[in-house]
Amino acid sequence: MSFEKEVTERLQANGENRKLVSSANEFLKESLTPLYSYNFSWLGRPIIQYPQDIVAMQELVFSVQPDLIVETGIAHGGSLIFFASMLELNAACGGVEGTVLGIDIDIRSHNRKEIEAHPMFRRIDMIEGSSIDPAIIKQVADHAEGKQKILVCLDSNHTHDHVLAELEAYAGMTGIGSYCVVFDTLIEDMPADAYPDRPWGHGDNPKTAVWKYLESHPEFEIDKNIHNKLLVTVARDGFLKRVR
Ligand SMILES: C[S@@+](CC[C@H](N)C(=O)[O-])C[C@H]1O[C@@H](n2cnc3c(N)ncnc32)[C@H](O)[C@@H]1O
Repeated sequence: MSFEKEVTERLQANGENRKLVSSANEFLKESLTPLYSYNFSWLGRPIIQYPQDIVAMQELVFSVQPDLIVETGIAHGGSLIFFASMLELNAACGGVEGTVLGIDIDIRSHNRKEIEAHPMFRRIDMIEGSSIDPAIIKQVADHAEGKQKILVCLDSNHTHDHVLAELEAYAGMTGIGSYCVVFDTLIEDMPADAYPDRPWGHGDNPKTAVWKYLESHPEFEIDKNIHNKLLVTVARDGFLKRVR
């Protein structure tokens, strides 16, 4: 049996392994309050992600070969530096020459300074403004003009309405075979009181937005292989593959 086929079969089995899935979910739940995802950095910049999701994004960059990655939600810039460095490595491995475009409503001056001073900045562009503001959407569309394969990551405001508006604005930029990755779908599966100081929560979050979006967008399918592989992921049901 080929290695790939072996892995695919194992992913399905792992996804159906109740003990394994529930221990991963338990870890996710327990790791929220201690702010586990706030402890990591990528090439010197803080990145607010779980390591498993970072590895998944590396696999996606290599398999999709995007010439543009669009990410909403910059924060300290760790994920932008991560994508830029993956694009750098990808190019060094003979892949496409890509860039990453980050959008954030508030790019703090100290973060901007560090991002702009980073060697990976040569593959980064940033736009400040709300990702659902029509003027910002137009700027992103202009930037995307002529690109062959766009990978989209949504990691900004996690309310249902905001993410749904982002999906409507950006998911269509992906080409067939590419992905729109929606982070923090896990909010739906966490206890109702898990986000007391946030406008999102159970019933109002990225996962409910994904479900709503998919009702009228059959060109996307949830790639379950990815969340079955990671198990510990903030993006269960959030790896949307463009299939047509
Ligand atoms: C979870 S953090 C992003 C983390 C980053 N992607 C990483 O992996 O390190 C969310 C970011 O979204 C930004 N944000 C909130 N509302 C936004 C909006 N309407 N448009 C764009 N960005 C927004 C916040 O300013 C914050 O920096």
